[in-house]
Amino acid sequence: VIFEDSSVASKAVAREIADLIIEKQRSNQSCVLGLATGSTPKGLYAELVRLHKEEGLSFKNVVSFNLDEYYPMEPDSVNSYVRFMHELLFNQVDILPENVHIPDGTLSKEEISAYCNEYEAKIEALGGIDLQILGIGGNGHIGFNESGSLQNSKTRLVALDHITRVAASGDFSGLSNTPRTAITLGVKKIMEAKRVILMAWGERKSNIIKASVEGTVTTQVPASFLQEHDNATFVIDKEASSKL
Ligand code: GLP
Repeated sequence: VIFEDSSVASKAVAREIADLIIEKQRSNQSCVLGLATGSTPKGLYAELVRLHKEEGLSFKNVVSFNLDEYYPMEPDSVNSYVRFMHELLFNQVDILPENVHIPDGTLSKEEISAYCNEYEAKIEALGGIDLQILGIGGNGHIGFNESGSLQNSKTRLVALDHITRVAASGDFSGLSNTPRTAITLGVKKIMEAKRVILMAWGERKSNIIKASVEGTVTTQVPASFLQEHDNATFVIDKEASSKL
């Protein structure tokens, strides 16, 4: 779906999320949201906060699972996704702290594999992700599932691509300070989500959007796996659609 601009698009996605939360509230069910970081979902989170503050949308039945976190990463560091999510969304709505899940960047290397299995088990225990929000990296990564990630990949510690580290290096004041690894939800859990919305804005995403939507399904472009999902939508602005 192509929108005039990212602001209108973000509002439409926020409305869909709000409607799902409300539908689940009516039947006394949890609403399991898969959430993303990066610059792309900022407008979405701002709109969800507005819906909470101005229209009384409650997040009490929402259980959230974030896609990824840099590793290693302290939660109170300026660049942590824990901090990003709390500042932009969780601290501003009434979600219960025990319902918030973000991969832990403080584990020891030995703890990571068991932790990742548990992260997936928690999602499974809730019946899977109802709605997964995604951004897209310049190389087609989703979460931090870089090029080469398999369609059945699990939640795990991954090495970040050079291109991903370069894109992030501005935030970390230089490439040498930019993390080399991250913990990411695997492609399998993303593909198992009942609904997936991938958002992308701007000319800089136009080539990878074309490759993901019109190219062959390939591990080189993990977002292309979504062509095989039953209920996935790419929500993009005019600039991001310019090569389609
Ligand atoms: C990071 C995140 C991804 C995100 C991507 C794109 O790599 N881990 O989840 O989709 O950045 O970032 P942006 O939205 O800033 O373009």
